[in-house]
Amino acid sequence: MSRREWTRAAPGYVLEDYDPMTDSKLDWFIHDRFGLFIHWGLYALGARHEWLMNRERITTADYERYATYFEPDLFDPADWARQAKRAGMTYVVLTTKHHEGFCLWDSKLTDYTVMNTSYGRDIVREYVDAIRAAGLKVGFYHSLLDWHHPDFLIDGLHPRRDDPDAEAQNEGRDLARYREYLHGQVRELLSGYGTIDYIFYDFSYENDDHHDVWGGKGRDAWGSEELMAITRELQPGILVNDRLAIPGDFVTPEQYQPSAPMEVDGVRVPWEACQTLNGSWGYYRDNHNDKPVDLLVRMLIDGVSKNGNLLLNVGPTGRGNFDPRAEHALEGIGEWMHLHARSIYGAGASDFTPPVDVRYTQRGNRLYAHLFAWPFEHLHLPGLAGRVEYAQLLNDASELAMQVIDPSIRALNTGLGGQPAGTLTLTLPIRRPEVAVPVVELFLSE
Ligand code: GLC
Repeated sequence: MSRREWTRAAPGYVLEDYDPMTDSKLDWFIHDRFGLFIHWGLYALGARHEWLMNRERITTADYERYATYFEPDLFDPADWARQAKRAGMTYVVLTTKHHEGFCLWDSKLTDYTVMNTSYGRDIVREYVDAIRAAGLKVGFYHSLLDWHHPDFLIDGLHPRRDDPDAEAQNEGRDLARYREYLHGQVRELLSGYGTIDYIFYDFSYENDDHHDVWGGKGRDAWGSEELMAITRELQPGILVNDRLAIPGDFVTPEQYQPSAPMEVDGVRVPWEACQTLNGSWGYYRDNHNDKPVDLLVRMLIDGVSKNGNLLLNVGPTGRGNFDPRAEHALEGIGEWMHLHARSIYGAGASDFTPPVDVRYTQRGNRLYAHLFAWPFEHLHLPGLAGRVEYAQLLNDASELAMQVIDPSIRALNTGLGGQPAGTLTLTLPIRRPEVAVPVVELFLSE
């Protein structure tokens, strides 16, 4: 099946005004489900979280010394692309600039760029070329905040927030000038690098449920409407996230798994969970909170079973490569995806209700049961009696026997019983397949 046919066949995942029968710029995104987030900047050298400038209240002058020592001799975006592909990811999103303000591209609007480090080459250009050459979709993350820019007003999230003269320091700062800088840099990024498929603006923190910050900034500070218009004008097909404090193309739960398909005002919307490997976005040497491979795979599955994507982050080291823990995670996910991608690509939530410890995804008449726990011999699937033509383990396409147990038979001593009417019972091998999460592929009768 072609990608479009898969997308058409996937059941109910979309915005009311999104018609999967017609072409939509969201098609690839909803189909592909899995992308790589890359947080890379000067904070990789601090190696203790990308917010270190903020957390440690580091002055601009002190922080700038990281630029002096930025020397990513192992930066190889073709290798990033290879690792993403092997993991089953189809798009990549790189931080062009994070809150620290350092620019990974050759911006003409500031000196605080990679061009003025010993590396001296446009990292964004090399990244875009390599990702595109690998056949992956190209995404940017761009920070709306900028703790380095002299016109960015100090607020309750700024590294200088606790200075006794913080407010006095704001005199002479001009947010309108910063806004111009922000828009100008977005113009550079969206006009100088060919087609950009995706942009993740980050973030707004003014008077919302989660932020109570003095001097908080949002839609007016960023000039969000204008920024959105610039974005769409320069890149008509681009997907834009929802962090400009105005609606975007998809919503972005961060570091949690939604418990149901996500909705806005009662309407199902495309969503993408962004998740870390260890709680930090930037490279963090001493953090050992690594999520095991099987948990990461379950997070991917869980999201797809609720119509969501997963954007999984790696923070490259200051030398530009992925550290062994990140490589191990991507490799492990890739092993699983190699055998099971067809329960992910083009799939979404099912209307059937799974039993405990099972997640369903569905693509057309194929229903995928992901077994988060391996039961003893029998898998009872409520509501599926008479609905399934054939069942197999997905990892090796080995047939699974099916039966419907007479609901009038009680479970007392010998023999199976006690299943509600409508239950389909599969017989599983005693030995669990040696994969992170076993999957049963069910062919539904039309
Ligand atoms: C945040 C953080 C951050 C990270 C991001 C990823 O809001 O500020 O450091 O880049 O979300 O979604």
